[in-house]
Amino acid sequence: MIAIGCDHGGYDLAKKIMEHLDEIGTEYKYFGTFDGKSVDYPDIAYPVAKSVANGESERGILVCGTGIGMSIAANKVKGIRAAVCTDHFSTKFTRLHNDTNVLCLGGRVLGDAFAL
Ligand code: RB5
Repeated sequence: MIAIGCDHGGYDLAKKIMEHLDEIGTEYKYFGTFDGKSVDYPDIAYPVAKSVANGESERGILVCGTGIGMSIAANKVKGIRAAVCTDHFSTKFTRLHNDTNVLCLGGRVLGDAFAL
């Protein structure tokens, strides 16, 4: 199970990611935002991070405008190692070398195809 959440800055990319997960048959739980209206990113980051930290979800994906706010908020939860990733090398090696469990993406930074 993957926990997913976004603020308004990440709403469009998060929807694309969930469409992709539907296509490949990967289970996820969505924590909002549900309508693309302005929200405070910690209000989304916290429940996603808790879901990973308490074992309900194996991994998390958080999307905001840059990915940075989400990573700052998620990393305040004990047991969470969240990283903003903007390239394939860092994405691969933050899993291998840092055991990150929450991927943070910037919906205003990355193209949809690149992010997927
Ligand atoms: C929202 O405008 C934007 O500040 C937020 O999505 C994020 O980029 C914060 O880190």
